[in-house]
Amino acid sequence: MADTSPPAVTYASYLKIDELLSLQQPRSEGPEHDEMLFIVIHQVYELWFKELLHEFDRVRALLRQDGPDDSHRAQHVFKRILTILKVLVAQIDILETMTPLEFLSFRRRLDAASGFQSDQFRQIEFVLGMKSEQAVARSPQGSRARAALEQRLGQPTLWDAFVEYVAREGYDVADVPRALITIYRTDPKNAELCERFVDLDEGIQEWRYRHVKMVERTIGTRAGTGGSSGAPYLQGTINRPLFPDLWAIRSQL
Ligand code: HEM
Repeated sequence: MADTSPPAVTYASYLKIDELLSLQQPRSEGPEHDEMLFIVIHQVYELWFKELLHEFDRVRALLRQDGPDDSHRAQHVFKRILTILKVLVAQIDILETMTPLEFLSFRRRLDAASGFQSDQFRQIEFVLGMKSEQAVARSPQGSRARAALEQRLGQPTLWDAFVEYVAREGYDVADVPRALITIYRTDPKNAELCERFVDLDEGIQEWRYRHVKMVERTIGTRAGTGGSSGAPYLQGTINRPLFPDLWAIRSQL
């Protein structure tokens, strides 16, 4: 009798290695050597963005539910998120091994493509409180990206979930800065959680800073492929905190 059992799972079948390795398709003539690095690094970023969104959803859910160990578990997930963020920042070192001329060798083949259009990056901004209807409107109607952004636009942010949690912990959140000051002064467990938000904020700002420096050293003051002014536009996005209350209270502690 023929064996009808499904084929055993292998490394290649489980991870869809053949499909994965067929997804790097340079556009330049030759192709130019460095275009492979450029494609791989962006794809790796998108995979980590996917994982980050998965973990942000987890922290948010843990902060919103009321189990006995949930804040402890939220801290645990935060640690993973912050470790991934360090990898994302470190990856910029790899791309900085590409010189301006190496990049220019294939840049015009990018047409108007730019990280500016990364919907997962916008989703991360949304969940961290930087929501933008304009960013939703830029995604094509009916696309996966549009649906994902619309969904996240209507969802509570990580900070909303944290404020809900703080209220459940017995603080009056009509005045959030005051509640945070009391936490820092009297409540070590929740002060630690606040510190993880500050780590996250600093980590995202660090990525933005490293990205703009990489852009300056690679394309100088040229305009971006995505249609912005390039480095000057990006300069305007750094030093903008995600959780301003946590920075504002520090001089009062
Ligand atoms: C040689 C490498 C790179 C250059 C020259 C570059 C250049 C730029 C420029 C000029 C912009 C401004 C928007 C525009 O007009 O295009 C931009 C935005 C952006 N890039 Fe890059 N980029 C590079 C690598 C990366 C990588 C590896 C990522 C990872 C996903 C990335 C993600 C982003 C994101 C998310 C934005 C939007 C930032 C915002 O609007 O706040 N970029 N990039």
